[in-house]
Amino acid sequence: MSVSVLVGSQWGDEGKGKIVDILSSKFEVVARYQGGANAGHTIEIGDQQFVLHLIPSGILREGVINVIGNGVVIDPSALLEEIEFIGKHNINIENRLFISNNAHLIMPYHKLLDALQEEAQGKDKIGTTGRGIGPCYNDKFSRKGIRVGDLLNSESLKTKVRNNIKEKNKELAAFGHEALDADKVVEEYLEYADKLKHLIKDTAVLLNNAINNGKSVLMEGAQGAFLDIDHGTYPYVTSSNPTSGGACTGTGVPPTKISSVIGIVKAYTTRVGNGPFPAEVYGEEAENLRKLGGEFGATTGRPRRVGWFDVFQMKYSRMINGLDRVAITKLDVLGEFDEIKVCTGYKLGDEILKNFPTDSQTLENVEPIYETLPGWKTDISDVKVFEDLPEAAQNYLSYISQNCGFEISIVSVGPKRAETIEL
Ligand code: GDP
Ligand code: IMO
Ligand code: MG
Repeated sequence: MSVSVLVGSQWGDEGKGKIVDILSSKFEVVARYQGGANAGHTIEIGDQQFVLHLIPSGILREGVINVIGNGVVIDPSALLEEIEFIGKHNINIENRLFISNNAHLIMPYHKLLDALQEEAQGKDKIGTTGRGIGPCYNDKFSRKGIRVGDLLNSESLKTKVRNNIKEKNKELAAFGHEALDADKVVEEYLEYADKLKHLIKDTAVLLNNAINNGKSVLMEGAQGAFLDIDHGTYPYVTSSNPTSGGACTGTGVPPTKISSVIGIVKAYTTRVGNGPFPAEVYGEEAENLRKLGGEFGATTGRPRRVGWFDVFQMKYSRMINGLDRVAITKLDVLGEFDEIKVCTGYKLGDEILKNFPTDSQTLENVEPIYETLPGWKTDISDVKVFEDLPEAAQNYLSYISQNCGFEISIVSVGPKRAETIEL
């Protein structure tokens, strides 16, 4: 029996989708535990690129059961679109995809309010994906949310939608937005109910039964540690817990059942949206790295902000996630640089900081301290074993592993399945 949690260790887009797809050849169940359609997890198989937003990245492996856990916020229209999209590629979800009755539903007013609230913030906006994530989790925690299980009871769904819309229309009016018609929304969601009802389950029971029957489970996080509502660069974060602890609350699998935590670590750093980013690079250097890494959002298409690898930040990520071993992704992208910088710590005025500060204001004011390592100036995307990597690339990996204090078990050198080195 093995229950592993896979987490993004930076600000998201580390390559979780690709690595879940690789690992799911060895797991029987894959479960998403938080976030929603703000995620964009990319998997490339042959010439085909799949970008999954809600469906776990284990869906592309035949025989793997996939679960959308209670911690996820589900936009039923986005989910149905995704089911249709993978169906066109002959990927069948029958008896392979289940969604938690306790997951919350993204409603049309969540998406509207996400956009309107962001617009009203002007330059202080978070830079959200506009998928209604914050407003939906807000309703969840103020105990007004509508859950997937409510789709199974049309009378209670009607009452909840009508009550919520009465309140939300006041908020929309304050932004000068027209009112929503509750009956139309009910009608729309009853149609979704019809299409999704056979997938709805108590997935905590499903997952615990699977574990008790000796099945292996991989829990797939979305976003990354520094977008965590508690541990991230608040308020420039998402509204859930991508860190490994979120896997328990987001699925109903208890901490006593978890055997390992796998971190997904990009060989450099990226961030989408606003907020502090000490090791960020700018100008031509940034454009170059962005182009080489294809760093454009999988969900919104926005150019990602880019920077060097940050050891100081990663040590904090290792601590809060309990990373045992990691997959380093996109190492190939660094193959054109003469020299590669690594951020080893921060200075705040004259003081060298001892711990990574999660406070955004402090982080905005730190000055990164860099060390420079030699590049390898070679295309490594064909390399299949660690020993065949150029010496400078091996040294770069050893440097990261030693200074961050974790073991590297996978090195990814390209987006495709075959472009993977297992150690
Ligand atoms: P996720 O959100 O963590 O799943 O990551 P995204 O899918 O948003 O972004 C990762 C991007 O990098 C995708 O376009 C992947 O196809 C691509 N990718 C993943 N691993 C590698 C790699 O090792 N090398 C390169 N060049 N691209 C990769
Ligand atoms: P994956 O799973 C990168 C960022 C947004 C914004 C902040 C809040 O593909 O790694 P939200 O819409 O969640 O309220 O936006 O979080 N963000 C992501 N950045 N990858 C993601 O997901 C992200 N999901 C949200 O850009 O800064
Ligand atoms: Mg992504």
